[in-house]
Amino acid sequence: MIFIAPSILSADFGRINEEIAAVSAAGADWIHLDVMDGHFVPNLTFGPPLVKRMAKPDGALFDAHLMVDAPDALLAGFAEAGVDRLTVHAEAPIHLHRTLQNIRGEGMRPGVSLNPATPLEALDYVLEEVELVLLMSVNPGFGGQSYIPQVTRKIATLAETLGRRGLDAIIQVDGGVNVETIAGAAAAGATAFVAGTAVFGENDYAAAIAKLRAAAEAATGGALENPVKGAARDAPEKR
Ligand code: DX5
Ligand code: ZN
Repeated sequence: MIFIAPSILSADFGRINEEIAAVSAAGADWIHLDVMDGHFVPNLTFGPPLVKRMAKPDGALFDAHLMVDAPDALLAGFAEAGVDRLTVHAEAPIHLHRTLQNIRGEGMRPGVSLNPATPLEALDYVLEEVELVLLMSVNPGFGGQSYIPQVTRKIATLAETLGRRGLDAIIQVDGGVNVETIAGAAAAGATAFVAGTAVFGENDYAAAIAKLRAAAEAATGGALENPVKGAARDAPEKR
């Protein structure tokens, strides 16, 4: 199963609800919400009040990626605003394990993210707590950057670690994902892909999403059945 998650960071914020509706109708699996606080990353976006005003199409899933120093204070607000999956950075909260438990406690699916330079070892003692690991393939803060190729090796190592430990977290990749770069990431074991420019930078969102999905599927030999992680991919999507 491949999940394509267009990042609304590259959408037209003046017409955000139309953009979300359009990309959802065009086949997006999740709507990726990039939350930035101006401290953890050198940019600012939006918080729970704005997400609450975003119209969530039937069947759509909000996949929030918090690039903030202090996520805990925001968790209840995002849950109330309709966020389904919430991912925090391992580099941010001091008590990461507690933060991940709090996300689940708010009824959301917990995810953890690593910046490109952060080693996978940072996740050693929290992997059991998460349903998704988001590997950044750019330094976070801005859309439109280039995929950092070393991340492909990181994806492969994480896939191997998850398989060895019998864990079924989804591996998500974010940053510089396009029809070329998605193939290597998918072949290495990623199954969820964030794409800002590669979707919202195109006129035809449905064609853009279909091309990304086809490229990922082709790289994994059609219908993805990762022998390492097997049927765990069939776990229910919604919380
Ligand atoms: C970067 C964000 C990404 C970004 C992706 O800080 O986390 O989600 O919007 O944009 P593209 O696909 O343009 O690299
Ligand atoms: Zn993101």
